[in-house]
Amino acid sequence: MGKTFYVTTPIYYPSDNLHIGHTYCTVAADAIKKFKKLQGYDVYMVTGSDEHGQKIEEKAKEVGVSPKEYVDKIVADTKELWSLLDIEYDSFIRSTDPIHEKNVQELFQKLYDKGEIYKDEYEGFYCTPCEAFWAESQMDKDHNCPDCGRPTHMAKEESYFFRLSKYRDALLEYYDNHPEFIQPEFRKKEMINNFLKEGLDDLSVTRSSFDWGVPVPFDKDHIVYVWIDALSCYLSGLGLGTEDESNYEKFWPAQVHLVGKEIMRFHTIIWPALLMALEIPLPEKIFGHGWILFDDDKMSKSKGNVVYPEPIIELYGVDALKYFLLREFSFGNDGNFNKEKFMNRLNSDLANDLGNLLSRTVSMIEKYCNGILPEPGESNEFDKDLETLAPSIWEKNEKAMEHFQFSVVLDDIWKLVRRTNKYVDETTPWIVAKEGDQKRLDTIMYHLAESLRVISILIYPYLQNTAKEIRNQLGLPENISWEDGKVWGLSKAGNKITKGKIIFPRLDTKKEMEKLEKANTALFEKRMKEKEKDMNEEVKGKDLITIDDFDKCEIKVALVESVEDHPNADRLYILHLKIGEEKRQIVSSIKEYYKPEDLEGKKILVLTNLKPAKFRGVESNGMLLAAEDDEGNLTIASTLEDIVDGASLG
Ligand code: MSP
Repeated sequence: MGKTFYVTTPIYYPSDNLHIGHTYCTVAADAIKKFKKLQGYDVYMVTGSDEHGQKIEEKAKEVGVSPKEYVDKIVADTKELWSLLDIEYDSFIRSTDPIHEKNVQELFQKLYDKGEIYKDEYEGFYCTPCEAFWAESQMDKDHNCPDCGRPTHMAKEESYFFRLSKYRDALLEYYDNHPEFIQPEFRKKEMINNFLKEGLDDLSVTRSSFDWGVPVPFDKDHIVYVWIDALSCYLSGLGLGTEDESNYEKFWPAQVHLVGKEIMRFHTIIWPALLMALEIPLPEKIFGHGWILFDDDKMSKSKGNVVYPEPIIELYGVDALKYFLLREFSFGNDGNFNKEKFMNRLNSDLANDLGNLLSRTVSMIEKYCNGILPEPGESNEFDKDLETLAPSIWEKNEKAMEHFQFSVVLDDIWKLVRRTNKYVDETTPWIVAKEGDQKRLDTIMYHLAESLRVISILIYPYLQNTAKEIRNQLGLPENISWEDGKVWGLSKAGNKITKGKIIFPRLDTKKEMEKLEKANTALFEKRMKEKEKDMNEEVKGKDLITIDDFDKCEIKVALVESVEDHPNADRLYILHLKIGEEKRQIVSSIKEYYKPEDLEGKKILVLTNLKPAKFRGVESNGMLLAAEDDEGNLTIASTLEDIVDGASLG
């Protein structure tokens, strides 16, 4: 069996459309997948959506749809986004998938049967968005959640607890024996100092205050804590519990879970402890990346600073976004998103360096060699320099990718891109052409094309479309082999070179920044409006009743036998009615519209199952129906044709 590699993204909350921060991790995971695949690994990638929990339940309630309906739309948008970005995931696991819900119940039952879970009562500070209880010692003086910084509130509930406390020493020992388990290294220190040093409390693993979750199999009043539900998606995503568990057997344990820094605690403490308790092997590595900030602040809808990936992709293409995300930020640390930085990267690295290198190479080969790749002649020192540099990059790339240092990887590749551009300046082909030295020109052209061939292999995991376009223009086969990037001289003389599109046009930074801002705001507003529309429909929906509601009203035809003045009220009549066999009286404020003789002997419509009420001391048992317009004209409702009193309306 070949080498396998299993990489996961977090299982995202579909509480809102995903923004550029979520995109970051998925793009990184996809780059790892493509890189490892090129290296010859059999790779599996799981992503998905974490759909249960109070937050989603509340969001759905806000817009008046069921939680499932609410998440369906966002999950569809998410899948569309991943497809737009050419994300090669193998499985998209939804925590509402029935097979996953079954797995959660089975894992929970197993923990309970093993005595790892017990029932008790919990009182503490609760963070609703994180769905976590916190001890006083873990919070600041204002009792804000240590994970997300939002305020917590006191909550008390009966709960099942996982014996997390007993795993503290085992975890520390595991970290010691597996120094690469938590990456980057400084995150390990954070976990030990912030959580493990003081000792661990047992973990509340059920909720009873809301319903949207997987029920505890043996106690329907409780649902399973959303984090057990979410984390076990990494197992369900491989097909655990399905008829065919071969992928689970083949790929578990994962080589790496990529996660944001704020969910490291769940992945480096709770998840391994749960797996230890379940006697399931632990993942090899948890990598905690930093956040993409906006002007040093967290992106959030309420701050209105959310940056969506879709407009960037639409305006500048998938590869521009991927390049920026992976090159600009150092994967383990926080970084600022900034449109100007984005435009600068695009102009300098993509348009000026790579785009320019391709277009001038292809143009020159067309001009000097009739669009056919020539046979190179003897190499001089400049040529040799390139011949050694190009195939040396892969080694650096492999090293940097061991720690997912995408920015280092791309920086190294761009050293080759820039070196090759410099090679053009050093070798001055336009002068060589003037001198009529075709053999030297051939050598230079070959070196340029060959360097670009190597570049097309190196960039493939990150900039797949660009790699393909370069290969296309150079007449290279679509199939890419990593090994071919390690060797100089594989381009075949005689290849047809075809000038294609400009891969990255230069942009007017100021104009484009405005354009991007506008497009992002438009999408933000569109999404807000869609939500409002759902809410309005819900409000309208509230005005509508069903036939069952109407059936609750009993309306009958009544004969007015006599009418008398109310003894204590000037504007009221007392009407004596015959409704079939039954006699009853109602009080009505129609005195200003009708005289008693207008009504006596007439048949009117009466709501007969209305709770009796007293008006100025006189009981009224029902209510006559009448129509009134805006000007105050009133007419009593009756039937079109005569019908016997006591007849029911419906
Ligand atoms: N559902 C949980 C994860 C369960 S994994 C078993 C969750 N979901 S989330 O949607 O809130 O966040 C998912 C990931 O997106 C986290 O790793 C988080 O760090 C990441 N990001 C959200 N905003 C981000 C940025 N602004 N920048 C980078 N990543 C950020 O937590």
